[in-house]
Amino acid sequence: MHDMLTLQEALARNLDDSAPEVVASMVDTISAIANACARISDLAGQGVLAGAHGLADSANSQGEAQKKLDVLSDEIMSHHLGHCQHVAGWASEEHEHHQLSDRHVRQGRYLVVYDPLDGSSNIEANISIGTIFSILPHEGRGRLPTEDSYRQTGHEQLAAGYVLYGPATIMVLTCRRGVLMFTLDKRSGVNGEPMRWLLTQENVQIPAQTKEFAINASNQRFWEKPVQRYIAECTAGENGPRMKDFNMRWVASMVAEVHRIMTRGGVFMYPRDTREPRKPGRLRLMYEASPMALLVEQAGGRAVNGTSELLDLVPDTLHQRVPVILGSRDEIDRIVSYHADPHENVSWQLFKTRSLFVQPQA
Ligand code: AHG
Ligand code: MN
Ligand code: MN
Repeated sequence: MHDMLTLQEALARNLDDSAPEVVASMVDTISAIANACARISDLAGQGVLAGAHGLADSANSQGEAQKKLDVLSDEIMSHHLGHCQHVAGWASEEHEHHQLSDRHVRQGRYLVVYDPLDGSSNIEANISIGTIFSILPHEGRGRLPTEDSYRQTGHEQLAAGYVLYGPATIMVLTCRRGVLMFTLDKRSGVNGEPMRWLLTQENVQIPAQTKEFAINASNQRFWEKPVQRYIAECTAGENGPRMKDFNMRWVASMVAEVHRIMTRGGVFMYPRDTREPRKPGRLRLMYEASPMALLVEQAGGRAVNGTSELLDLVPDTLHQRVPVILGSRDEIDRIVSYHADPHENVSWQLFKTRSLFVQPQA
């Protein structure tokens, strides 16, 4: 344990090809986020004792009911970003508009986008939850950022990461030089010192092949044909065209699903569906899809909306929703090929006796 690098030491090494001021500002910014997440971890870890369970009697800009922990986590992130001299502004799932730093808006070189608390429906059930973040360049440094300043593709992200509040609190981070994993040392932080994050894995790689997928199967009747086909083939198992049995998981916290994929491979899908035609997907491009896509790609996986790479998408708005399909590269290649096939038509009858799900009639 004594030989492990701290977050700051590991980042300095990871970024050693960058100018000293870039290293310093990036280490400061990620440390601010890490300190905020250590505080959220503590709050989440106290469970009901922290008084943070239940609804907050408010809704976010998209009309979704906010939990108390959503609101508190958002305040904690805002507070720490507001004290970081390199951050000009930030945008959160919980606010309709971005926020400008009171003190550092003109000198800050970065914009931060985040989902302060991912998996809110799991809070009271004591199931893993998380935080997702992305650091973008503020191209107009010296000028006030506008909401347009955030409309950058996922390729522009300088860093992205998530923190998983599970049995252990783990940060998974990329600065576009591979993926690093840190574990929060919960015994640190005595005498008002910031808590320590220790490097527990580097060069994280997602296996290209897998026998595990994650999808909310209750939406099956709304899926489009390529997704129907992929899942039907997986659930057909050994006797189906894939000639192997698959396993399924659904935590309903994207952070937990992506972390499982980081540790042993797999596919995660929240695809486009026909439930609400105005909403092309459930997840948000800027603070869920994009940062996860960068992490997954940096770990050798692939992340798409079905037909395009998630990192190629130019956001229309801060809260834009997109379909998300990510994970083990060979599986994502297969799913993209199903989306690309203009004659895609599933021979449902073939799998009828083997599938877990009731298939629509052909
Ligand atoms: P959030 O709690 O930030 O709104 O995000 C929840 C997301 C994501 O984490 C998860 O994959 C998905 O919503 C779960 O959706 P369902 O409840 O439809 O399964
Ligand atoms: Mn979320
Ligand atoms: Mn959230």
